[in-house]
Amino acid sequence: MSAANQSLTCFEDSIATDQLDRAGFTFRHKLLGHPSLSLENLGRVLPTLPKNQVMFSKTSLANGDDFETTFRSRPRGHSIEETIETIRNSASYIMVQSPEVDPSFADLHKQLKADVETLMRRRGIGGEALSAKLYLFIASPNAITPFHIDRYSTILMQFSGNKTVTVFPQWDDRVVSAPNREAYVDYQRTQLPWSEDIDSLGHAFHFSPGDSLHIPFVAGHHVKNGSDDVSISMSIIFNTEESMMWRRAICFNHHMRKRLAALGMQPAPVGNTAWRDQARSGMYRVGEKMRRVLGRAS
Ligand SMILES: [Fe+2]
Repeated sequence: MSAANQSLTCFEDSIATDQLDRAGFTFRHKLLGHPSLSLENLGRVLPTLPKNQVMFSKTSLANGDDFETTFRSRPRGHSIEETIETIRNSASYIMVQSPEVDPSFADLHKQLKADVETLMRRRGIGGEALSAKLYLFIASPNAITPFHIDRYSTILMQFSGNKTVTVFPQWDDRVVSAPNREAYVDYQRTQLPWSEDIDSLGHAFHFSPGDSLHIPFVAGHHVKNGSDDVSISMSIIFNTEESMMWRRAICFNHHMRKRLAALGMQPAPVGNTAWRDQARSGMYRVGEKMRRVLGRAS
């Protein structure tokens, strides 16, 4: 059996892989009832993880808030144990990076990564999921994950509670302008403008236990939990050779934009023309190497 025809362990085998890293789409996962995702196991594992992997907030967030900076400071006077205990009745949000460092998540991480790599081969975008990591999200009823983009591709799986995940077209400048996308991907500015007009451009996926959703690289998205139950979801995030090439091309544009503006010009957008993106990615790579060499020499 060729690697692309390998059957999937964690996902139902009916996935529209031609849309991988092009558009959001849903499918079913087979991990409902997995013991690692029980509240019992989460309550045991989370307090044992390094503090910088467990981020939580005790305030409700709204669209337009800066999602990334919210988690840089921990809420004073609150522990993760207390946050888990009170999550049903408090406006809290817990985000856990790389729970796979705990043995109870290690095999799950391996199996999910293998499934993602099978999907990538079927789509013809390489066979290695780069920097593949798990993220856990545990959130109070009605909690909101504000509008943002990611520098990687995502498959999000729902385990408990319902939510609505709205996904926006990947390269649409009306959703995120090219300068804002470039500054975000290059870690320069993570607050993105938000409006009702932008919201009307998204596609809302209603998401229940057993559902999975693919969110393409840099596609804007926001999440609203249902009102009934605590939401438990997990994602696997990863880059591909293609998305790493896009990342470098986007960073190249970010660096060139100011220089070209002085000449009354602006860089052509990333995501339209593969050869042009590859050329810019290559130039950015050379520039990075030179910066490293010069840094070492100075
Ligand atoms: Fe995200």
